Amino acid sequence: MQFSTRVTPNPAKIKTGCIVVGVYSGRQLSPEAEALDRTSRGAITKLLQQGDLNGKLGTALLHHQPSRISAERLLMVGLGKNKTLSRADFQKLARTIGNKLSNCQAKSASLLIESISVDATTNQQCAAQLVRALLTSTYRFNELKSKPKGTSKGPGRVAFCISQQDQVNTIRKGVRLGEAIGKGMKLSKDLANRPGNICTPTHLADEAEALAEKLPVKTSILDEAQMEELGMGALLSVSRGSRQPAKLIVMEYQGGDKDAAPVALVGKGLTFDAGGISLKPAASMDEMKYDMCGGATVFGVLKAAAEQKLGVNLVGIVPSSENLPDGQANKPGDIVTSLSGQTIEILNTDAEGRLILCDALTYVERFNPAIVIDIATLTGACMVALGKHASGLFSNDDKLAEDLLAAGERSGDRVWRLPVWPEYDAQLKSRFADIANIGGRYAGAVTAACFLGRFTGSYRWAHLDIAGTAWNSGILKGATGRPVPLLMEYLTQYIADQKAT
Ligand code: BES
Ligand code: MN
Ligand code: ZN
Repeated sequence: MQFSTRVTPNPAKIKTGCIVVGVYSGRQLSPEAEALDRTSRGAITKLLQQGDLNGKLGTALLHHQPSRISAERLLMVGLGKNKTLSRADFQKLARTIGNKLSNCQAKSASLLIESISVDATTNQQCAAQLVRALLTSTYRFNELKSKPKGTSKGPGRVAFCISQQDQVNTIRKGVRLGEAIGKGMKLSKDLANRPGNICTPTHLADEAEALAEKLPVKTSILDEAQMEELGMGALLSVSRGSRQPAKLIVMEYQGGDKDAAPVALVGKGLTFDAGGISLKPAASMDEMKYDMCGGATVFGVLKAAAEQKLGVNLVGIVPSSENLPDGQANKPGDIVTSLSGQTIEILNTDAEGRLILCDALTYVERFNPAIVIDIATLTGACMVALGKHASGLFSNDDKLAEDLLAAGERSGDRVWRLPVWPEYDAQLKSRFADIANIGGRYAGAVTAACFLGRFTGSYRWAHLDIAGTAWNSGILKGATGRPVPLLMEYLTQYIADQKAT
């Protein structure tokens, strides 16, 4: 999908597959709809009189061959009753436009929506969100169909048609950011949607090397022998039950000052989680190919940041393994020694994510990170607590937690904070080792975070549990690309804050 931004004097004369204008509740025309109405001598008013569109937010009406309008189609979208839209309303509007355009055959589209104002949001951010929504609604994962149905859906070209010359650069900047985030989300989704027999730890390592070939990203891979040498006994214990060798993938992007401390992203890259000897039930087990979505997020953010030339230093670490039952696999009761030296009693082999992450969280210290954010499909309990709308947020630093919460609101990729109190941590007591890998029936998402917290001694840290947000089930089964938008928004703000101080 190609985007352009241009000043367009006469909307009725725009040659496009689909022209898009907004209508407020009660069939009140937006300024752009009004201009189109005027130049088409009342074509819009006439259509609205038929009564099929009221202007309610989330609704839209597609009309073919509108009279006295050069566009092949006219899409009228409801803007709701408020002249200033809330951020959530605008995101809903962006999704509506994206879905309508991806379900019609228009080869090109022209958006006339510059007058829309959104609460606490700049025009640049609006453009970025629209681009993101368009790229999201036209995404399809077809690489494994023998006869892919056509190419990608939706218009090949989208133009932002505006009236003010001085807004052109603002919109273009927003478009570029939206495209970078869109590309990062696409990479994240492509990796995640690939099945476990293709997307193995080795495959992820190859993808990290491919990323370094195209963008200013430096990749290095630790193999099992090197991890053994370092003493990553927790990570390696998970991989022992698998024929696929584990990898520790390290990706570095230097967009900031040469000696500025990096932001580190650590993503769970479990390419298939059968549970190990504590085997999972069969129903929906296929979805455990998505257990590498935290790792896929790290790939997506590095890609988006490098595309956007973000002024920040990033380190991305993806510990990657499978979790399968086997004669060599971890057994309940086994005790392993982590890279940190702490011993872990594995009471449930299905709580493996924290075992691969804890060694990565110790390893990341050697980069002297300013901040560490780990991202993981860590617990079913987090899904039970927060459902699909918010990722779980846990942190040892209030400022970091607040910044992530705010970035979630701005980007629409939301998080909600849960505690990591010592009372919960006490549930991880082991009779035989320093710590147990599970904390009992209650507060499973919290005790998982407390477990990780035992390995994050010296730095500012946040943990995102994305079990509920990283993919959709049912007929819309597929990776969502979250939380790439959240982290891109967070990093953008982080850079602005660094500059200000
Ligand atoms: N990958 C799963 C978490 C998960 C489950 C994510 C379902 C999304 C949907 C993780 O490795 C796991 O199995 N966690 C266990 C922990 C338990 C054994 C303490 C869980 O959530 O059941
Ligand atoms: Mn598991
Ligand atoms: Zn898992």
